[in-house]
Amino acid sequence: MSNLALKMTGISKSFNGITVLDDVQFELKKGEVHALMGGNGAGKSTLMKILTGVYQMDEGRIEIEDKEVTIEKPQDAQENGVAMIFQEFSVIPSLTVSQNIFLNREVKKSNRLLDEKAMYMKTEELLKQLNVDINPNTLIENLNVGYWQMTEIAKALAQNAKFLIMDEPTTTLSKNETETLFELIEKLKGEGMSIIYISHRMDEIFRVSDKITVLRDGQNVITCPTSELTMEMLVQHIVGKNMENSFRWKPRKITQDKTVLEVKNLYSGSKVNGITFQLKQGEILGIAGLMGSGRTELARTLFGIDPTKQGEILINNERITIKNPQDAIAAGIALVPEDRRVQGLVLGHEVKENMILPVLKRVSKFGFINKSKVTSLSERFVDKLNIKTDSIYKATNLLSGGNQQKIVLAKWLANEPNILILDEPTNGVDIGAKSEIIEIIRQLADQGKSIIVISSELAELMAMSDRIITLKNGQVTSELQRAEIVSEEDLEHAIQSN
Ligand SMILES: Nc1ncnc2c1ncn2[C@@H]1O[C@H](COP(=O)(O)OP(=O)(O)OP(=O)(O)O)[C@@H](O)[C@H]1O
Ligand SMILES: [Mg+2]
Repeated sequence: MSNLALKMTGISKSFNGITVLDDVQFELKKGEVHALMGGNGAGKSTLMKILTGVYQMDEGRIEIEDKEVTIEKPQDAQENGVAMIFQEFSVIPSLTVSQNIFLNREVKKSNRLLDEKAMYMKTEELLKQLNVDINPNTLIENLNVGYWQMTEIAKALAQNAKFLIMDEPTTTLSKNETETLFELIEKLKGEGMSIIYISHRMDEIFRVSDKITVLRDGQNVITCPTSELTMEMLVQHIVGKNMENSFRWKPRKITQDKTVLEVKNLYSGSKVNGITFQLKQGEILGIAGLMGSGRTELARTLFGIDPTKQGEILINNERITIKNPQDAIAAGIALVPEDRRVQGLVLGHEVKENMILPVLKRVSKFGFINKSKVTSLSERFVDKLNIKTDSIYKATNLLSGGNQQKIVLAKWLANEPNILILDEPTNGVDIGAKSEIIEIIRQLADQGKSIIVISSELAELMAMSDRIITLKNGQVTSELQRAEIVSEEDLEHAIQSN
């Protein structure tokens, strides 16, 4: 018997006559972490969905441990030991952590009643293994999305899987949780688990993978050991051309010394505990902090999703009350949310409609929508952000994960609000588009727009921000001019300390 855990050969797949995978090969050794990479829409998730029985391949062959297998439905995959942590969450928000982990595989007592205690204890054990400190009886909807991800991982582990497919598992995790995940991957690997790892974060790939396969436009580009590739080579394989390093920070001049937003001693819920800061016109303010530090909650409070308990918000020196997103929008504030696949899109709608929602005023006259303006604006952003879609009329939910992210971004970037709050703007976005997004954000600031960026990717935060504040336990713990920060470690240190 070879040490091959999985062999996929000649995999082809098209949707409505459009080829998405074209004669793809992919092999996975036992105890190997194999990274699957490629730009948004390259076909990574589709290939994995074929392996997990979500989609059927048109052509090709799948062998597991040297035996050909037929995977026609998710149950077949499960029986073959394949577990996948989906890019789109599959947890059910209205159930508890424990109920989600044992969904459809409930543990029963001899009298056929549910054995809640056994499931609780098993869940507790799994969470402990993952270093996650939550109660198994907590409802998913009451948890931060980072914990949704952890629940997904715990669920896969509970299935005693032989292979684990992780599709962008860290996009919603904090640095510490990511570290925990990597340690866990090492441990699982040692136990003979084979892992397919999908991510757009280069540093992670080099850290965690043994081998890399790159797909571009549904075709194999290269497969080779990670140690034989440099960052530049990898980026070139992914985008298909040489790319300048856009993560290099350039100092920007803020011409007007005008404070547009002032937040004084703001309190909301349990996560925002007396936050004070200012934002200048044309400034890009970065917000750093660990998961649970109150970053997202601050953004939600400023946008009127979460209620203000105490404190003041001033715009252009005038105190305003923000009770709901309409108030925020009227005050010139826009928010691109973190979990934008959940909050930011009308999934059944066309690409074009989704992008145009907030700019309706600009493209309509006397209540009539100017169709050609809508089309040209949508096409411009599809082009600018390299959104992979057959047309602007395609339903958004049929786009790849990263391309959906880009659409939500595009819709707010096109709207050009005075104050734009971006929560993890490049989550799930490929390396090529990341640099475009950073560039667009800089341009907006140059035009006098004020921007708040929340990001767990410190390199990205450092590439954009003029100034960075760090949050901990819902309070500002430090404020740094970008020029003062020499390395990522400096910023990491500021985030960790009180
Ligand atoms: N059910 C579907 N119907 C039509 N097109 C689809 C469907 N599912 C995927 N596609 C298309 O297949 C292509 C590949 O998508 P896929 O989700 O595999 O990309 P990906 O490599 O995972 O990208 P990302 O990094 O953005 O997650 C995309 O152009 C997408 O629009
Ligand atoms: Mg994908």
